[in-house]
Parts: sequence; structure tokens; C-alpha cells
Amino acid sequence: MNKKVYIETLGCQMNKSDAERMFGMLEYLDYEKTDDPKSADLLIINTCSIRKLSEDKAYSQIGVWGKWKKTRPDLKIAFSGCVAQQVKENLFKRAPYVDLIIGTQRLYELPELIKRVENGERVCSCEESPYAEKDYKINRVKSVNAWVPIMEGCNNFCSYCIVPYTRGRERSRDFENIMNEVRKALKEGFKEITLLGQNVDSYHGKGVNGEDINLSGLLKAINSLDEYGKFRIRFVTSYPTDITEELIDTVIECDKVCEYFHIPMQSGDDYVLKKMNRRYDVQTYEKICAHICSKVKDVTITSDFIAGFPGETEEQFQNTLYTMKRLELDYSNTAAYSPREKTVAAKWVDKFVPEEEKVERLARLNETNRECCVLSNEKYIGRTMEVLVEKFENHDGINVISGRTRNNKMVHIPCERDLTGEFVDVKIVGSKTWYLKGELL
Ligand code: SAH
Ligand code: SF4
Ligand code: F3S
Repeated sequence: MNKKVYIETLGCQMNKSDAERMFGMLEYLDYEKTDDPKSADLLIINTCSIRKLSEDKAYSQIGVWGKWKKTRPDLKIAFSGCVAQQVKENLFKRAPYVDLIIGTQRLYELPELIKRVENGERVCSCEESPYAEKDYKINRVKSVNAWVPIMEGCNNFCSYCIVPYTRGRERSRDFENIMNEVRKALKEGFKEITLLGQNVDSYHGKGVNGEDINLSGLLKAINSLDEYGKFRIRFVTSYPTDITEELIDTVIECDKVCEYFHIPMQSGDDYVLKKMNRRYDVQTYEKICAHICSKVKDVTITSDFIAGFPGETEEQFQNTLYTMKRLELDYSNTAAYSPREKTVAAKWVDKFVPEEEKVERLARLNETNRECCVLSNEKYIGRTMEVLVEKFENHDGINVISGRTRNNKMVHIPCERDLTGEFVDVKIVGSKTWYLKGELL
């Protein structure tokens, strides 16, 4: 191998997982991964368009790479991911130095497209028809956790969200393809499998005999893979009303499936939720969480919230803060509303919350989130918990291992040995805002 490829990935875990697949596919064309963009023959920017800021990052990055090309005309530049899916060939006008634009549904076409680019063609492949997946090697990031996409796309069309336009309609992968990928990852030594999807709980795949398999069925099948030793299973992201009784029972019954749900709520106000086109009200969401908490011991529930949605009043925003606390959510991802082209809410310009107000609300949202995390973490002091070690680092002269509990709490533990990849029992002796402190037992 003498050609080098550098991939800059923005956005969510789905994009990171796509990048691992791209690296794998490109090995068949003799490209080797590099972490130094300046040494690369092929540069790929794997973009995200969830908010304007992430989209802007993508454009400024290719601007820089475009300049490099003036002195290195052989350099190839590719633009992939969610912004690519939106702009399609229009990007060539804005950035004529780009060689390849590849949409989210054409991921597995990459090797053929790169061959054409190497022959001097400029190519755009952004059709909204999934290119069939192939059993290529996956060049996974070295970690204890392997990300396994099980479904992609979304049919929900929340009024603020670009994802249905960038990832297309919901598609589930075949059961056997997923199982093969999971077996391979476990054979390679990964200790945790995280099933990925924009709405992971609406997975509906087909088995070898054409039978329907839902997320519970898939979790049970992975849980029964006993020949690979101990490992954990997680799944993200759940749409609140798609969580079934069967799924909750599966989490309880399956020893490898962890007690963790990521269930974005977005707002704690009924009127705003309606305007967001979310299919639940505050009471329904609350009931779902209360039900999960009553059945699943030590469960962690995390969420996502948006501050300053068009038309959101101060009172409605306060309902979000109040709800976050009342529900004792363990942690939430937060963001200020960002208008996205094509989405319904982006047209409500006269209702936009002023920028300074959004920023101020986001700060208050973050403060409430911080308070929730502190309370959530304090509960565990004195408890014994199992940690899967992810890292061995030196913090200010002290050697520390860190990893997560089954319910996804980060724990830092002083330790002289690198125990990465091992399951250790830990006594929780302290708590900080974003992590717990533990001692090895
Ligand atoms: N499918 C998941 C969310 C995927 S997008 C769900 O339905 O909950 C990840 C997060 O980005 C969302 O939960 C939302 O909080 C945030 N987000 C999406 N569009 C946004 C926008 N236009 N402005 C700000 N945040 C946004
Ligand atoms: Fe976006 Fe809503 Fe789909 Fe989540 S459910 S990806 S927020 S449209
Ligand atoms: Fe961004 Fe696309 Fe993920 S818009 S958040 S990279 S699905």
C-alpha cells in the first residue's frame, strides 16, 4: 500500500461508523489510513448538517483543502455524508476543486467511484436509492466498543430536523448481515456492541427465512452468542413512543443488554412538542420513563433538548427546565435551535427566537442539565459497580483507568496497570458532575 487516505468526520456516531466502513473499503484499492491530512493522496470530509454550525465547518474545511490542491494538483478531495446528500452536484459550482460528492445512501459504491476519480473523472452520486451493502472489511477505531448500524433514515419528519432529508426513509439491515458483523467484531476482541439507528427501536429486519425480526428479537439473538466470552450490548437512539413492553422486558431478561436508554424528549412543553411534530406529550413521555424506571433496576435515561424553537415562549422554555428536573433525567444533549433548509419550522421566520435569547436559554438549559447530572451521580456513592475499562491515562501524575458502568456512567479509578478491555468491580467513592470516582475491589 502506498496511497494514503485521510477522513475528517463530523456529526453523529452514524457518520463515524460510515467512516470506519470507508477506510475498510478503500483498503481494497490500496489506500492506507493516515492521521495527517498533509500526507494524504485522498482527503474525505464526512459531513453533518444537523445544525448550521456543523455545515459551515464542512465548507470551511474543504476551502482549506482546495488551496492545497493548487500546489498538489494530484490531490483528490471527496465530500460525503449529510451535507453532500443535500447539496448534491450543486457543490461543484461552489467548490470546483472537489472530485467526488457521495450521498449517504451510496456509501458502498465508494470503491467504484474512487476508481473513476483516479481516472480523472469528477463524480457525483447522490441518488436516493440505497446501494446494496457488501461484506467489505470494516476498519474500526481501536476501542472496546464496536458500533453496528442496524437501521438508517427516518420517517418522522420532526418539523426542525434535516435527518429525513439527508438519511432518507427508514431502512433496516437484514438480520443475518448484522449478526455476521457482530460475530466478526466479537472475534476481533470488542467487548461491547452498540446497535445504532436514528430510531433504533423501530428496527424491523428480515431473518434468513424472511421472518420479521424487531429490535427485541435482534437483542435476544446477540445476547445468546455465548461462544465469545463476556460482552455488553447497547442500542441508541430510541424514539419515545416506539419503546415497547417487549423491549423493556428484553433489557431485563438479557444479561448482556445494558440498563441504558437514550430517549430524546426535545421539549418539556406540550404546545412546543406539537409544533415540533413529536408524537407524544409531556405526560406520555413521563409515563414511559416512570415505567422503565419502575421495571429496570439502576437504569440510566438520557435525553436531547432544543432551546429556542420558533415561537417558544419564556414560560414554555421554563416548562422544559422544570420537566428535566422533575423527571430526574440523568444527562441530556442540548442545542440551540438552528433553522435547516427544507424543514417546516425553518419557514416560521416571524416566530424565530432572537439569537441572544436562544444563547441565554441554552446556557440555562445547560445549567439545569448539570444539576441533573450531579444528582444522578451522587446516588451511586458507596455502591459496587462493574466497569468495562476503556482507557489507561495519566492524570496529573496519577495513573488512572476509566470506563463505563452497565448504566453508562463514566468512572475514573486510580490504577497502576492498564486494564483496558477488562471488566472490573469498583466501589464508587465520590462523584463529580460528569463522572464518578471509584476504587478497585
Ligand atoms: N432521532 C433522534 C434524534 C436524531 S438528531 C430523535 O428523534 O430523538 C440528534 C439531535 O439533534 C436531536 O435529538 C435534536 O435534539 C438535535 N437537533 C436536530 N435538529 C436540530 C435543529 N434544527 N436545531 C437544533 N438541534 C437539532
Ligand atoms: Fe430527526 Fe425527528 Fe427523525 Fe429524530 S425522529 S431523526 S429528530 S426527524
Ligand atoms: Fe449529522 Fe447526519 Fe448524523 S445530519 S447528526 S451526521 S445523521
